Amino acid sequence: MLAVHTSATTLRLSPCRSHGTATASRAPLGLDISQRRRPQRRVGSRTAGVIVPRAGGDAVVITGGTVVTHDGERAADVLCVDGRIAAVVDRGAGPAGVDVPAGARVIDADGLLVMPGGIDPHTHMELPFMGTVASEDFFTGTSAAAAGGTTCIIDFVIPAPRQNLLEAYHTWRGWAAKSAVDYSFHVAVTWWDQSVHDDMGTLSRDFGVNSFKHFMAYKNAIMCDDETLVKSFARCNELGAIPTVHAENGELVFQLQQQMFDAGITGPEAHPLSRPPEVEGEAANSAIRIAEVLGVPLYLVHTSCEQALEAVTRARVGGQRVFAEVLAQHLVIDDSVYRHPDWSFAAHHVMSPPFRPKENQKLLWRGLQSGLIQTTATDHCCFCTNQKAAGAEDFRKIPNGTGGVEDRMSVLWSHGVETGKLTPSEFVAVTSTNAAKIFNIFPQKGAVVAGADADLVVWDPRATRVISAATHHQNIDFNVYEGMEVTGIPVFTLSRGVVVYDNGELNTVRGAGRYVDRPCYPSYWKSQARRNSLATPEKVERAPYSGPVA
Ligand code: URP
Ligand code: ZN
Ligand code: ZN
Repeated sequence: MLAVHTSATTLRLSPCRSHGTATASRAPLGLDISQRRRPQRRVGSRTAGVIVPRAGGDAVVITGGTVVTHDGERAADVLCVDGRIAAVVDRGAGPAGVDVPAGARVIDADGLLVMPGGIDPHTHMELPFMGTVASEDFFTGTSAAAAGGTTCIIDFVIPAPRQNLLEAYHTWRGWAAKSAVDYSFHVAVTWWDQSVHDDMGTLSRDFGVNSFKHFMAYKNAIMCDDETLVKSFARCNELGAIPTVHAENGELVFQLQQQMFDAGITGPEAHPLSRPPEVEGEAANSAIRIAEVLGVPLYLVHTSCEQALEAVTRARVGGQRVFAEVLAQHLVIDDSVYRHPDWSFAAHHVMSPPFRPKENQKLLWRGLQSGLIQTTATDHCCFCTNQKAAGAEDFRKIPNGTGGVEDRMSVLWSHGVETGKLTPSEFVAVTSTNAAKIFNIFPQKGAVVAGADADLVVWDPRATRVISAATHHQNIDFNVYEGMEVTGIPVFTLSRGVVVYDNGELNTVRGAGRYVDRPCYPSYWKSQARRNSLATPEKVERAPYSGPVA
C-alpha cells in the first residue's frame, strides 16, 4: 500500500490492478493521519521531496516508477496538474513523499518506466493522395497513436499545385480539430510564386510553422521542381525555418516506372525496381548540396538506404546541419515483401521509398546508434485493401503508404532496446526528444520536467504483445507487422495530464488534442545563422577600370 500525503493529510491508496491506480482520498478514521500543516509554497516548488501543487484542476501522480529521459534514468515520482508536469521528485529525497491534491488519481508505476510520450514527426492522416483519401482520420489516427504511447504527431499540409498555402493550411487545421492528442504541421511547398513566398512568412510568423516539406518525387503531382526547391530553401533561410525533403529523384522514378510497365512488370514487384536506392541517394545528395550552398539546415524524411545515409554522413562529418529520420518499418521489414504471391499483401507494402534489401537495416540501426540518424517516424499513411486495389492492373496506381503509428514505440523498444542496440535513454531520444529539439518544441514536449506538457507514457519493458490488424486501433485492414511479437508496451498514456490509454483501454476524446505552435530559429538554426553571417560575401572596393575596352 502506498502512502501519499496532502499538505494536511496522509492519504492511503489501494492499487486496483496489477499496475494499479487509485484515487487519493481522505483516509478513514483510525488510519494514520498526519495533522502537520505545511506553509504554502510556490507552484511546483520542491523542498526535500515535498511538492505542493497549485490548487484545483485535474491531477495525476505517478509513483514508484523509473523516469527515463534522453539524458538518464532516475527513481522519481511525477506529479501532473492541469495538463502540465508540476514536479518530478526523486524518491528518497525526503521523508514526506509526494504531496498531491485530494482526489488526484494515483498511478502505481512500480517496475515500470515513465517516459516522455512519443512524438511521431511524420504522419499523413486523412491525406488526399493518388486519387483517394487515407483511411485513417485525425481522430482514429491519434487515438491509435495514444494506444501505442505516442502523444504528439507532426502531420503534413500538402497543397495541390497552385493551391494557396494558407488556404490548404486552414483546411488541414479543420480536419485535425478532431485529434485526440496534440498535433502540429509541416507545410509542403509544391509550387512557387510570390504568394507562396509571402505565405511561408505568414505561416512561420503567425501560425507556428517552422518546417517546410519538399517532395522531390511524385512527378506530375506534388513534386517540386528545382526552382521551387531552391527558392523555398532560400526563403527558409530568411525565416529561420527548416526545409525537409522526401528524397527520391522523381524524373528517374517516372522513367523507370514506364520501363517496368512497358516490360510487362505491372505488379507491386515493379515498385522497388522503379525506385532503387541510388534514386534516393542521388536526391538526398542533391538536396544536401543545395542546402549547403544556401546555408540552411536540412531534415531528410524516411531515410531508407545506404546511399542516402552516405550522403548524410558526408554532410555531417563536413559540419553541415543535416538531420535524418528513419521509419520503424524500414528498420525491420525488407523488400522480399514485394515478391509475395498474394497481390494484396505485396500491394500493402507499396510505400515510398520502398522497403530495401535487408543489409540496409543494419546500416540504419547503426545510423541511429551513432547519432547520424536522429529521429524515428512512421509516415503513417493508411490505405485499405480496396483502396490499394486501384492499382490492381498497374503498380503506379497503387496508393503509396503504410500504417504504423500505433506500433513504432514497441517495435523500436523490441528491436532496439531488447537487442542491446539502444539504451532506454537513446530510445527516448529517437522516439521523442530529438524530434522535439529539431522542430523546436523542447522542453514543452519530449521532456519529463516541471513545466512540460504532461505527455507521458508509463511503459512496461517486459510485457509482450503480438501485433495484428485484428486487434490494432488503426483504421486499416492490414498491419505490416502482422504476427510480430514485441516486448515493451505502454500501460498508461497521458496526453496533457489526461489518461487516454489505461491498461489496455483506450479512452481518447475527439477534439481533445491541441495544435502545437513551433517557433522558428531552434538553437541549431542560430548557429547556422551565425555561420552564414560570418560568411557574408564582401564586395572588393577598387578604382574603376580606366583602360581600353576592345
Ligand atoms: O509512400 C508514402 N510514403 N506515402 C506518403 C507520402 C510520402 O511520400 O511521404
Ligand atoms: Zn515521402
Ligand atoms: Zn510521408
